[in-house]
Amino acid sequence: MHTRNSWQQMWSCLLEQHKPGHGLPREFYNDPEVYAAELDKVWRSGWLFAGHVCEVSEPGDYFTFAVGADPVVVLRDDDGTIRAFHNVCTHRGTLLCQQTQGRVGRAIVCPYHQWTFSRNGNLLACRGMHEGVDKSALGLQGIRVETVAGMIYVSLAENPADFRPVREVLAAALPHNFERAKVARAIDYEIHANWKIVWENNRECYHCDVNHPQYVKANFDNAEAEQNTAARRQALAEAAARSEARWAAEGVSVTHKRGGLALFPDAEHDIWYSASRTVLADGYESESMDGRRVAPLLGNFTSPDVGVLRLRTLPNFWNHTSCDHAVTTRLLPAGQRLTHARVTWLVDRDACEGHDYHLEQLLPFWQQTSEQDWQLCDMVQRGVDSTAYRPGPLSKLWEYNVEAFIAWYLRRMSS
Ligand code: FES
Ligand SMILES: [Fe+2]
Repeated sequence: MHTRNSWQQMWSCLLEQHKPGHGLPREFYNDPEVYAAELDKVWRSGWLFAGHVCEVSEPGDYFTFAVGADPVVVLRDDDGTIRAFHNVCTHRGTLLCQQTQGRVGRAIVCPYHQWTFSRNGNLLACRGMHEGVDKSALGLQGIRVETVAGMIYVSLAENPADFRPVREVLAAALPHNFERAKVARAIDYEIHANWKIVWENNRECYHCDVNHPQYVKANFDNAEAEQNTAARRQALAEAAARSEARWAAEGVSVTHKRGGLALFPDAEHDIWYSASRTVLADGYESESMDGRRVAPLLGNFTSPDVGVLRLRTLPNFWNHTSCDHAVTTRLLPAGQRLTHARVTWLVDRDACEGHDYHLEQLLPFWQQTSEQDWQLCDMVQRGVDSTAYRPGPLSKLWEYNVEAFIAWYLRRMSS
């Protein structure tokens, strides 16, 4: 392990190798020391999207995940409060809740020596221990939790950034609130790429025309492409003019964007969250394969003409919400070359599978888009690992948000 000074030297050296307007040098994507520093400065410092409130609807419901080597459990306690803990026994460290998703009975019982914790984290019993053990000092280690619009965020930091600004943005963007949703399906993926490769891919649609044929039929992200005609740009302008005034009048949020893509992130002001609503292509009411609705309207929407709401929070979340369903992606770092992704489809909680919605219609649009992306990320990592890799220039027309992401990342890492 590097000492603090040697890490500073290594970091300065890496920074010197980065040419502005270009991708990052290889070590940023595969060096274990860089990855360890990222866990510290990005993943254990910021706010992380954990899951949806509807995934823990009853007391005792829990789900687990890991941030690098740190296992976390999120659960609803007896009072209905959503809590998060390090999923680590305070006796000898055993992982407490074993399943990805489950329900604990009245208490959390460690499988090793059966120390027993209440659902709010207090140590209730530790049979077999000697007299004088202070149970009050051996409760589970709590993790900060915030909920907004039916989404759960956690922070492993002792003093994380103020959550209020992100709360304002997400709550305003999601008046219909995911608490009125349910999970129709979640799929877990292993992406064999560094987490930054996944974000860099997310931050541009330079690759979309060729790699996401179904996505570009529904969306205008490629409207700025040179091969796109003035007619395509005009279609975007007309669709936007038709819908945006009505959304604004109805209080459905609209935020500034360039073409189909929001400018995000904003490294200069350390803005790591954003929400933007954009129009869908003519004939598309939903991000589905044929543009038709695939589930009943979500929450309190009264019209399908709401385009698509796009939410993002760095370092691990994005979501696209159509009028009838929403799709959330959560990333977690699992190694310098491995990222876990969970893609979750939400529908209205009263919608009935097989009757109101069918998975074969609901899933393909984002399942295909996600899997196409993961495959691209795998290929990038394979090439970046080569000794022949040299970071190339980023397109000013298409990859301005990749540059913005790199700037945000470098700022976080240098702080
Ligand atoms: S490690 Fe949990 S009870 Fe011993
Ligand atoms: Fe993509």
